[in-house]
Amino acid sequence: MQELVKRIQQDGNVLGDGVLKVDSIINHQVDPLLMKQMGELFAKVFAKRNITKVVTIESSGIAPAIFCALELGVPMIFARKSKSLTMNEELLTSSVYSFTKQVTSTISISRKFLTESDNVLIIDDFLANGQAAKGLIELCQQAGASVEGIGILIEKSFQDGRQLLEDMGIDVVSLARISSLENGEVTFIEADA
Ligand code: G4P
Ligand code: NA
Ligand code: NA
Repeated sequence: MQELVKRIQQDGNVLGDGVLKVDSIINHQVDPLLMKQMGELFAKVFAKRNITKVVTIESSGIAPAIFCALELGVPMIFARKSKSLTMNEELLTSSVYSFTKQVTSTISISRKFLTESDNVLIIDDFLANGQAAKGLIELCQQAGASVEGIGILIEKSFQDGRQLLEDMGIDVVSLARISSLENGEVTFIEADA
């Protein structure tokens, strides 16, 4: 997506350890118009997949996921990273290991929100090693739901996430694909949409 690439070039900052800081458009301050365009693009790309639920993980996936769900006319569910006080019902849970933080966390969705008749589109902001996406896929599998695809805003193509997901047979659509963050520069390869 040309607009996202342009905004990363304008507003992104490369941190030394292979991390792209985009906190003025995605991860802290959020650009609603850009989010709306990205959410609607995912809806268009996956229009023929009969999506019944859009699933993401708190917090930064929520903004694009809600615009996508709005466009598709289906609910959006965000997996929680910590147990909510009111989540006393049966849970789908999976463990997510973060290479960046070197900690394992448990993510969960209430069982009542995902069933075997659901066709799920997963949305997230970053794809790095793919562990968050893998955790979301596991939640869908526990519910017997079908994962129809994954929409990613920014893929770090120099990390293993995309390969991991493709090896699981899942369609990955990334709106920006970054092949390198070396020497403080962002290098892009052709995006999927
Ligand atoms: P993985 O899920 O792909 O394996 O990623 P990893 O554990 O490495 O990343 C953990 C967190 O860091 C995730 O957000 C992920 O979106 C984010 N992240 C990974 N690489 C980058 C990057 O280059 N730039 C930025 N800004 N974020 C990155 P999170 O901790 O779940 O936070 P949030 O969703 O609440 O923002
Ligand atoms: Na994030
Ligand atoms: Na995220």
